[in-house]
Amino acid sequence: MPPAPKPEILAAFEAAKGFMPTGEGLALYATAVEAGRLGLPLLEVGTYCGRSTILLADAARAAGVTALTVDHHRGSEEQQPGWEYHDPETVDPEIGLMDTLPTFRRTLHKAGLEEHVVALVGRSPQVAKIWGTPLGLVFIDGGHTDEHATGDYEGWAPHVAEGGLLLIHDVFPDPADEFTGQAPYRVYLRALTSGAFTEVSATDSLRVLRRTGAGI
Ligand SMILES: C[S@@+](CC[C@H](N)C(=O)[O-])C[C@H]1O[C@@H](n2cnc3c(N)ncnc32)[C@H](O)[C@@H]1O
Repeated sequence: MPPAPKPEILAAFEAAKGFMPTGEGLALYATAVEAGRLGLPLLEVGTYCGRSTILLADAARAAGVTALTVDHHRGSEEQQPGWEYHDPETVDPEIGLMDTLPTFRRTLHKAGLEEHVVALVGRSPQVAKIWGTPLGLVFIDGGHTDEHATGDYEGWAPHVAEGGLLLIHDVFPDPADEFTGQAPYRVYLRALTSGAFTEVSATDSLRVLRRTGAGI
């Protein structure tokens, strides 16, 4: 049986605002527990309101490592006003822009996981450029344009340690199934053809790859 979160952690995940279905969340959790054995930080790109962060944070807590989560907190293209995934509650009324940071902080606090997470507030490529620590896991769940998905891959995949795991969310091989573009699928194919990563598992749109070679 793969490791599963305790009922209270699963309940916090399911109660949190966000996009990840429970089946993928359970796969993310089991993968994060495995990656935690490397004793290195676990990093997520795409915090939003902290739904998936809860699972990474709990796995990090169990492993005695830190979960890192990167987001500028202004939302992706498809989350902006007028788009399909917009949530008016995420808009800061004073400046009229999305700000998911306050909800994220409340989510983590309520789940009792604040001390296991470092939030990196900024643009993913900008943060990646100054990053220097090997990572046990990188979970890419940020922007869905080719520019953003490629930037996340090129910025963070080099930091996945030997034996570490690279996870890509919203991988839709069939164009009929995609709602926000196939950029994550293209990044997944690139990782496989690089020869640096080998597929471990697929759960719905979540792909798990392990670093088995150098490069990206
Ligand atoms: C699909 S949501 C993440 C969902 C979250 N993992 C969950 O479980 O609910 C994507 C997030 O990526 C962030 N994002 C998109 N492009 C980004 C970039 N270039 N740098 C930092 N964050 C980015 C958006 O602000 C948004 O919050």
